[in-house]
Amino acid sequence: MSLDKNTQIGVIGAGTMGTGIAQVASTFGHKVVLYDPYSDQLNSSKSGLEKILNRQVEKERMTQSEVDSILERIVFTDNLSTLSGSGFLIEAIVEDLEIKKEVFQKVEEILEDDAILATNTSSLSIASISSALKRPERFLGVHFFNPAPLMKLVEIIPGISTDEAVTVSARSLIDTWQKVTVRAKDTPGFIVNRVARPFYGEALRIYEEGVADAATIDWAMKELGGFKMGPFELMDLIGHDVNYKVTESVFKEFYYDPRFKPSFAQKRLVESGRLGKKTNLGFYDYRDGAKNPEPVKDAVLGEKILHRILAMLINEAVDAVFMNVASIEDVDLAMTNGVNYPMGLLKWADELGPSRVLDWMSALQVEYREDRYRPNPLLKQKVRRGENFYE
Ligand SMILES: NC(=O)c1ccc[n+]([C@@H]2O[C@H](COP(=O)([O-])OP(=O)(O)OC[C@H]3O[C@@H](n4cnc5c(N)ncnc54)[C@H](O)[C@@H]3O)[C@@H](O)[C@H]2O)c1
Repeated sequence: MSLDKNTQIGVIGAGTMGTGIAQVASTFGHKVVLYDPYSDQLNSSKSGLEKILNRQVEKERMTQSEVDSILERIVFTDNLSTLSGSGFLIEAIVEDLEIKKEVFQKVEEILEDDAILATNTSSLSIASISSALKRPERFLGVHFFNPAPLMKLVEIIPGISTDEAVTVSARSLIDTWQKVTVRAKDTPGFIVNRVARPFYGEALRIYEEGVADAATIDWAMKELGGFKMGPFELMDLIGHDVNYKVTESVFKEFYYDPRFKPSFAQKRLVESGRLGKKTNLGFYDYRDGAKNPEPVKDAVLGEKILHRILAMLINEAVDAVFMNVASIEDVDLAMTNGVNYPMGLLKWADELGPSRVLDWMSALQVEYREDRYRPNPLLKQKVRRGENFYE
């Protein structure tokens, strides 16, 4: 079955991501069946979506009739068999391997043999979920970012058994939803959740060493680096429970590679319930009238912080290319569209000159003698050959 505008889209899980994905598919004219076994979850999904779309009418970004037809095209159901007839099914339920496997086994019985099934998992391998399926060749990962209607990026992740035609077909359809699709190998964190780790991890390390406080590190990354948010503000926003869990999962999945080592500072925040903005306390204090420290606006210190975090980020982006996780272009598209970095990291490496980045990494490695700071072999090769990442 080839996927097109007439394909019915099935979505499993009416939470944050499932609701957002249903909105996207319906906006582009598909009939959507959104399934969740919990009726209260379906109700809040529906009312939440109505609220978001009505706001678009108020802001004159959409007409009432456009909004009405987007809502009319979505069927909210707690009956799994309503998903039958879906040519493309996207699962966005709780991040639990056994529950996901069970749901896929049930839904595979309901759909046509040629339907394409996909998971929106952030941290499980496509291979592990596919083991439950009768037709793993028709299954892949499609990783949307939150909020799905606003974030352009979708990582397309074929598993070990996925048919190439299935990958191409799913990617082409998602391209028609005006998304930026990138292709990633089925490895921990795919592209974004792997390459972005040093943004948090190295910032936390600098903080733990006492080189600078959170406000100063955030200032350096925003003012000197051009990032929209600093690492500490961003971790406070994401929630330390969520951010720490991703770090821990990537660290374990990479067989405890020191590049991905979680930090005690963040663990203590989680343990104490200071989860960030949602609890009014994280690295910053969000309570009414709270006073937060001012950054130390020292350009020399700021550059030192920026160069250290940026070198680690670029080294990680280079590793994703070196290990064939994704192409140079796709790594850059992923970071600019998935986490809104001001520039692709490999383009950034070219602008700085790969030898400068290697110098920064080598200086860290000499200073610390830790494997965490080992420069990537591809970075060394590029410098040796006098090449850039882009021609
Ligand atoms: N939230 C994010 O930022 C984000 C981003 C990208 C990917 N993801 C991934 O998307 C998936 C969903 O995340 P979320 O944040 O939307 O979660 P969520 O908690 O908002 O929603 C999960 C939904 O799954 C439903 N559910 C639970 N058990 C179910 C079952 N057996 N059958 C069907 N539905 C069931 C729940 O009722 C709930 O509506 C996860 O795999 C997560 O890793 C999340």
